[in-house]
Amino acid sequence: MPTDTPVAIRTIDLTKSYTSGNSQLVIFERLNLEIPEGERLALIGESGAGKSTLLHLLGGLDRPNQGRIFFGGREITSLGQAELADFRNRQIGFVWQTHHLLPEFTALENVMMPLLMRGAGRKLASPAAMRRLDEMGLGPRASHRSGELSGGEQQRVAIARALVTDPKVLLADEPTGNLDHKTGEKIADLFDEVHRLNRLTSVFVTHNIGFASRCDRVLRLEAGRLVEDNPRGGIVQSDNQGMEQGHFAGLQGEGAPLDTARGEDGTNYV
Ligand SMILES: Nc1ncnc2c1ncn2[C@@H]1O[C@H](COP(=O)(O)OP(=O)(O)OP(=O)(O)O)[C@@H](O)[C@H]1O
Ligand SMILES: [Mg+2]
Repeated sequence: MPTDTPVAIRTIDLTKSYTSGNSQLVIFERLNLEIPEGERLALIGESGAGKSTLLHLLGGLDRPNQGRIFFGGREITSLGQAELADFRNRQIGFVWQTHHLLPEFTALENVMMPLLMRGAGRKLASPAAMRRLDEMGLGPRASHRSGELSGGEQQRVAIARALVTDPKVLLADEPTGNLDHKTGEKIADLFDEVHRLNRLTSVFVTHNIGFASRCDRVLRLEAGRLVEDNPRGGIVQSDNQGMEQGHFAGLQGEGAPLDTARGEDGTNYV
């Protein structure tokens, strides 16, 4: 769909495959994706479809075999390791299914970590981390070791840590995957708020349909292709071959606009 909104992330002909022994596993080939600034995008698909692989590439944690990735006008696929690490630290917040907090460190120290890693002093890092913990409702837990916190609290600390550097982009891989339903709902509410208040561009990999349905757009990774799914129900056209029933057809609302088209060479543009 033509839009005036600047593109936050663009992939061009992204190809990723893994080689083990003599066999090659192609995850996707020539994948093209545009994520407009401010979008909240859900990435869904079956286990093994390559969702985490794609997210790692978008976050500069892994390199594609071929293809390019741009953040705004900046190509991250051409950056060296040190530049890429600095770029990640400054531009991207990550939240994982497991929180990856350091259990022996306090909540506050865990949240300070990305700022300390970029060379900020504790004088600057400590109040910035405290502010993020307060936003997550965890001010009173700041001095607790992260290993002493509940699963939901640990995930909130992880969100605070992802945001402490004021990133432009938030990438999350099954961030509610380890939580019970009610806690997962609360974390999803928190992501809504965090996305809006921080003017983020967010990509959420999720198996949770309720969580995906909160997003602006839902893309399903399937057989190496990205296909638009419809978070609000109804019929969506997933390619130029015809119409198909949306993945979330049971939910209320109008159909989403068509954003997916397949080129003559079979490449799909989403
Ligand atoms: N380092 C690796 N070496 C070889 N194969 C890999 C590697 N990482 C992932 N794969 C394979 O790539 C495929 C995609 O993996 P990926 O983790 O991206 O799937 P996913 O869609 O995130 O699945 P899930 O929903 O279970 O997390 C899988 O078949 C996986 O086994
Ligand atoms: Mg995964």
